Amino acid sequence: MPRAIISPSVLASDFGNLTAECKRMIKGGAEWLHMDVMDGHFVPNITMGAPILSCVSKGIPGIFMDCHMMVAEPEKPLKWVDDIADAGGAMYCFHIEATNDPISLIRSVHKRNMKAGVAISPDTPSTAITDEIADAADMLLVMTVYPGRGGQKFLDRCVPKVAELRARFPDKDIEVDGGVGPKTIGVCADAGSNVIVAGTAIFGAVNPENVIAELKSTVET
Ligand code: DX5
Ligand code: ZN
Repeated sequence: MPRAIISPSVLASDFGNLTAECKRMIKGGAEWLHMDVMDGHFVPNITMGAPILSCVSKGIPGIFMDCHMMVAEPEKPLKWVDDIADAGGAMYCFHIEATNDPISLIRSVHKRNMKAGVAISPDTPSTAITDEIADAADMLLVMTVYPGRGGQKFLDRCVPKVAELRARFPDKDIEVDGGVGPKTIGVCADAGSNVIVAGTAIFGAVNPENVIAELKSTVET
């Protein structure tokens, strides 16, 4: 299985001090920072876009911004792919429910030197990720809550999809996102997830570095 990566979701951070919050997570042992981009169309909320991501990447050279694109029409290259690439995005993870041509979109993302991720919402079966899509993508994201906001309850029924994808793709990065924390990491790790997103569980902790270490060691053992 690929290496364990912890990607704290900054949605649960103090947005007024976003760069400092990201630095605090990296110091605490996080490899990636999970940036939830919501457009008010694919999901009802609006969070942040390229201008904010750009400030963060300029403030933290080398940061790996794991951009979770909860947006309609993620394939409109000028609207999203180019903007996120210019802002310093490292991973462009779009929802398969939002596009008709995931393969072309993955190619556009790669042309801009970003990694490409493909996300599935709770009601989307793992079979929506065909072998062709998975081969082209760098990462698969299994949502364990409905996309749209942080702090929701982990949906156990999504876990079998992680196991199905891990069985089909032993070497692929497989991310879980939503309601993940010390109480739910065990089933995610057992199912074969290696990229762990956690917002509330990390930012809400007195010692985030302890939670990061606990999540990481559970995946590694
Ligand atoms: C939900 C977002 C998640 C969320 C995770 O739409 O994609 O990344 O911020 O937050 P927690 O860990 O609090 O569920
Ligand atoms: Zn997310």
